[in-house]
Amino acid sequence: MNAVAGPETVIHRSRLQKGMRLLDVGSGPGRLALPAARQVGETGEVMALDIQARMLDKLRRRAEQQGVGNIRLVEAGAGEGQVDENYFDRAWLVTVLGEIANKEAALTEIHRALKTGGILSITEVIPDPHYIGRSRLRALCGAAGFEETESFGGRLAFTINFRKPNNNRGNNRGQIPVFPNIRRN
Ligand SMILES: C[S@@+](CC[C@H](N)C(=O)[O-])C[C@H]1O[C@@H](n2cnc3c(N)ncnc32)[C@H](O)[C@@H]1O
Repeated sequence: MNAVAGPETVIHRSRLQKGMRLLDVGSGPGRLALPAARQVGETGEVMALDIQARMLDKLRRRAEQQGVGNIRLVEAGAGEGQVDENYFDRAWLVTVLGEIANKEAALTEIHRALKTGGILSITEVIPDPHYIGRSRLRALCGAAGFEETESFGGRLAFTINFRKPNNNRGNNRGQIPVFPNIRRN
């Protein structure tokens, strides 16, 4: 996995920088969350969200051993409403989305969790039994209100970055739009 989707690659492709807040959805035991926490530094933060308590237990132990203190662990499924809104600069789904039953709810939650202009970076790798191809990924993310900004890699392993645009699409479905230029007098 590290050969095609290692921490350096994922950090570089997602443009993760010092001081940022990252939501690592389906973090597992922290293969990527720990290097990410070092990358964002003390002024940044990583929230590691995973549905499996034993993954987060491993991550907690490893963070303690390595003296990494800027990771928040949240045991929950993606889309279950346990994530801050308009808070994150980056979100990662690295070989995770295919395992999530309700992909629409998960992507809507991630959209809501990102600040405007924030980036969701999705990496898929072919030996993963839950691999999702580019076209399905684009359709799912488009329906959730994201717009594609960058694509990297080949057929066997790729990353696509999607931005939360500055408009009312996606996660605002069903809400009444606001037209600030209309005078009401
Ligand atoms: C293949 S591992 C990838 C771990 C990590 N992203 C990496 O690349 O090393 C998939 C992870 O997604 C988690 N996961 C599966 N379904 C999930 C869901 N609905 N919500 C949150 N995490 C989930 C699993 O528990 C597992 O830790």
